[in-house]
Amino acid sequence: MQPARQNSPRFVVVEGMDGSGKGTHLPFIEACLSAGAGKGAAEATGAAGTRGPSVLVTREPGGSPLAETLRDLVLTRPMDGLTECLTVFAARRDHLTQTIWPALAAGQTVLCDRYLDSSWAYQGAGRGLDPAVLALLSEQVERGGPGPDLVIYFDLPAAVAAARRAQRDAGLAQRDRFEQEDLAFFERVRQGYREAAARRSPQTVAWIDASQAPQDIQKQLSDILVKP
Ligand code: TYD
Repeated sequence: MQPARQNSPRFVVVEGMDGSGKGTHLPFIEACLSAGAGKGAAEATGAAGTRGPSVLVTREPGGSPLAETLRDLVLTRPMDGLTECLTVFAARRDHLTQTIWPALAAGQTVLCDRYLDSSWAYQGAGRGLDPAVLALLSEQVERGGPGPDLVIYFDLPAAVAAARRAQRDAGLAQRDRFEQEDLAFFERVRQGYREAAARRSPQTVAWIDASQAPQDIQKQLSDILVKP
């Protein structure tokens, strides 16, 4: 049972470990949000008076020119846990100030593939970074603008996600630094997501059992996103 939400969400985040299938369902989520956004203003008007799509789809790390450069570094260059954490937060701050907040101010709905909870799951639970550091950075990074009003977690056992990744990536020459981590790391990531969700108010949180068949996942997503 999901807690009742009053208004259509404007800043929506999708979270889950690598292989959870969130990428597969992103276009469906976008379509649900577009239908909702279309009921209000069909198109958003940008700061310069330009008309843009009602839903902006973006991702982390990345989503702005500087943050995309930082993404390349964090996915490919060896670095210690704190450096990695500071880099994803630097990327997030730029993403919020350059992309997300301006889009929200222009009336767009924002759909973001990964956000703050990934840092709690991967850098916090996964790498063992001090929660006090994460709490401080989390509070600072959102200074000056809104955080998400809905976070959808694609939850599944780490072993199931690993099997999906193995199938998906068969024959792939290279996997990024996170995808090379072992099962124990991803078990901690799953637990980290639970802890991250517990920090949010319950009406902003939705869980998807990502081990279900795709059509059952879509049914659950429309129950969450499409208002009668
Ligand atoms: P990506 O290829 O986008 O993964 P996916 O398609 O599964 O979303 O790679 C992003 C990786 O970055 C992913 O493994 C998780 C990691 N990450 C962090 O470790 N911390 C963060 O704060 C974020 C946003 C991502």
